[in-house]
Amino acid sequence: MNSLPGQTAIITGAAQGLGYAIAKAYVNEGMRVAMMDIRGDLLAQAAGEFTRMGGDVLPITVDLSDAAGTQSAIDAALAHYGAPRALIHNAALLITRSMLEITLEQWQKEINIILQAAFILSKAVWQPMIDAGGGSIVYLSSGSGYKGFIEEVAYNPGKHGIEGLMKCLALEGAPFNIAVNCATPGAPINTPMSDSNYTEEQKRHWVDPALLTPAFVHLASQDASGLTGHRVAARASGSWDAIDLL
Ligand SMILES: NC(=O)c1ccc[n+]([C@@H]2O[C@H](COP(=O)([O-])OP(=O)(O)OC[C@H]3O[C@@H](n4cnc5c(N)ncnc54)[C@H](O)[C@@H]3O)[C@@H](O)[C@H]2O)c1
Repeated sequence: MNSLPGQTAIITGAAQGLGYAIAKAYVNEGMRVAMMDIRGDLLAQAAGEFTRMGGDVLPITVDLSDAAGTQSAIDAALAHYGAPRALIHNAALLITRSMLEITLEQWQKEINIILQAAFILSKAVWQPMIDAGGGSIVYLSSGSGYKGFIEEVAYNPGKHGIEGLMKCLALEGAPFNIAVNCATPGAPINTPMSDSNYTEEQKRHWVDPALLTPAFVHLASQDASGLTGHRVAARASGSWDAIDLL
């Protein structure tokens, strides 16, 4: 377990939903937080709130479907804060569309936000984490990371892809003391993505994503001597279940 106060986290999709909740939890832990999102307006609001709480945060507006933009964003985060203790790639886009409806461009956009960005961000922090003696990388997965769902022909393979990347990097990161894990919301959460995709029945049971954040605090403190190569389901009770995927 590594101490978190004064350390840096980089979080994507931090303007709202689960990413916002994780960013706030890290600010409360005394971490410095680079926050990335395409919604510059909401990101500025969140960053203002965290600064008023006494946090040290850096909002970076970026479209993570764009490779060059993603590289510039992570370069800016590293230039500002140096090597991060934790990278949490949480941003994703889910638009349910059938194979008949979806275009190649739409497919690539969802895949790029989930999987291409995971690769670019992880590659950028890899050497700095090695030089720093370790770190923790977490990708937000989903039931869509291991099961099939109707009309998820982009999101679903994107989530399967990050689970594969996670397994490879957990193995490759072990000698460098870098932990790499996937996490899933282990409870239905009240977020804009859920609002667009949940049934009315699911919405009756959804919970504040802030309840899931203890698992992400724990994950940020990990290195390869601790939890790595796992899919971690964050529970609303504040606990979590972890499955070893290596
Ligand atoms: N909501 C759920 O029930 C659920 C279930 C399983 C997994 N997840 C995963 O948890 C994570 C967070 O989900 P959420 O419900 O908070 O989602 P959300 O849609 O509410 O929030 C996602 C954030 O990502 C940002 N984003 C989207 N496209 C972007 C882009 N091109 N560039 C930069 N930022 C972009 C959005 O602006 C938003 O702030 C996602 O990876 C999602 O797949 C969510």
